[in-house]
Amino acid sequence: MDYKNYIASKLNIDGVTSEEIASLIVTPPDNSLGDYALPCFKFAKIMRKAPNMIADDLAKNYVVDDNITKVIAVNGYLNFTVNRTAMVTNTINKILAEGENYGASNVGEGKTVCIDYSSINIAKPFHIGHLSTTVIGGALYRIYKFLGYNTIGINHLGDYGTQFGKLIYAYKTWGNKEEVEKGKIKELMRLYVKFHDESEKDATLDDKARNYFKLIEQGDEECVALFKWFKDLTLTDVKKVYDDLDITFDSYNGESFYNDKMDVVINELNDKGLLKESDGAKIVDLESDGMPPCLILRSDGASLYATRDLAAAIYRKNTYDFYKCLYVVAYQQNLHFKQFFKVLELMNKPWAKDMVHVAFGMVSLEEGTMSTRKGKVVFLEDVINKCVEKAYAIINDKNPNLENKEEVAKAVGTGAVIFGALSSSRIKDIVFSYDKVLNFDGETGPYVQYTYARCESVLKKAGEIGEYNYTNLLPIEYDLVALLTKFPQVVLTASEKYEPSMVTRYAVDVASCFNKFYFDCKILGEEENVKNFRLALTKATKTVIKNALSLLGIKTPEKM
Ligand code: ARG
Repeated sequence: MDYKNYIASKLNIDGVTSEEIASLIVTPPDNSLGDYALPCFKFAKIMRKAPNMIADDLAKNYVVDDNITKVIAVNGYLNFTVNRTAMVTNTINKILAEGENYGASNVGEGKTVCIDYSSINIAKPFHIGHLSTTVIGGALYRIYKFLGYNTIGINHLGDYGTQFGKLIYAYKTWGNKEEVEKGKIKELMRLYVKFHDESEKDATLDDKARNYFKLIEQGDEECVALFKWFKDLTLTDVKKVYDDLDITFDSYNGESFYNDKMDVVINELNDKGLLKESDGAKIVDLESDGMPPCLILRSDGASLYATRDLAAAIYRKNTYDFYKCLYVVAYQQNLHFKQFFKVLELMNKPWAKDMVHVAFGMVSLEEGTMSTRKGKVVFLEDVINKCVEKAYAIINDKNPNLENKEEVAKAVGTGAVIFGALSSSRIKDIVFSYDKVLNFDGETGPYVQYTYARCESVLKKAGEIGEYNYTNLLPIEYDLVALLTKFPQVVLTASEKYEPSMVTRYAVDVASCFNKFYFDCKILGEEENVKNFRLALTKATKTVIKNALSLLGIKTPEKM
């Protein structure tokens, strides 16, 4: 039962469609006047009447029934009271019947969404700065799938540039196979830093590096093999973190993949008269759009980040025919995306409007937590491991006899990192704090997981849930059910706003509402009718929490 649509279908307002009415209906935070409310202020102009008079008239003409039992007009609002007993039973039945599909839909059927996320750089550390793009992208990937979209996850690897020439020179000069195999990215980084130190003393090194890079581009066997090896090493190294975070990709086509796909773009820019010469370089002038020019070719003929992004966008459109193409990349790259989207528009690509930069803020570590590494890179893997260790200590302290403590600690520690990174609107900068994300009483992953385990424990003790016919609904019980009805809408809005934090916040709301219910209402000791209703409500809550957390890539241990 969709009450908003139901109410809207029973209202007649000249010049306003039923859909428009439904979209205006809200669920008031204080439901003492009604469970749904329609503000009438927007109709004043069309109807040439004061909002409170409109509300009065609409209330007078509304015929109540079994679904909507009362309608009153108050201060320009039309307030509707639903038949709470029917609403509650229907909702719980629906959630229990749909189970892990509750909240899913097919709005996305036939549409493809490409999501460019994580997009790490080869031979560079996978650090705390990659946390947001990886978990926001991962969550959006699952959310879109849940809504029926065909979803393509793309890791647009940073695998192109002179730094690979530097690395080859450094490896051949100061490195060896065993050390690289042992140290992996850390050894590659050491070599890279060594190159920079040495090139300060010897200016010829840069030329030598450039030469090696050229050899890669020309397909020189040895150089290409080394480059591929560095790439494989990086990918195997990060695979562990992706597994921990439950992150998958459908494509690892990175920047180098577009090496042979840029000429077409450059020719097209040229044919369309968009390419201009500037100090030997080729640019697209964006002055009339209030932006600095978009660099396409350097004076030495080398392509740039934007050139490869243009080629990649065109390739994605041709390959996937996307409905939307998302780029989950930090706000530092705002200008880059604005420029490159603008260039597509100037190229008359009608789909330029479907490109979305899903920007997010910076993540820093709380001062002092890693003081020994201050100023140095903080590996994402280390952050996750530390969180898991700390989670283990907390669990061991709270529940020393828990069976699979390691496994639970892993789910809780990893979940805490993910939930923490998705807790506030993505555009906000976040200061990552171990104590904060692991606070079992805070608005955290562990708090929600703990609530889930609490539901499970109640249900396990109770056994089978019998029939119920419950009419003496308490306000907290209604509030909890009303919250559970909102899940499908929350998922939908999160997809429209590219904002997984709506799901984390919702999960916290559900958990705290359930806990209030749990402390206010007895479940197991009550008479059958009440007990069964409350057990069914507990089971519905458990289902919703699980669905919400799994969209974020967070596991739900049955015991904690
Ligand atoms: N590798 C880039 C970086 O670390 C991010 C790439 C984002 N995706 C893209 N298509 N530009 O900054």
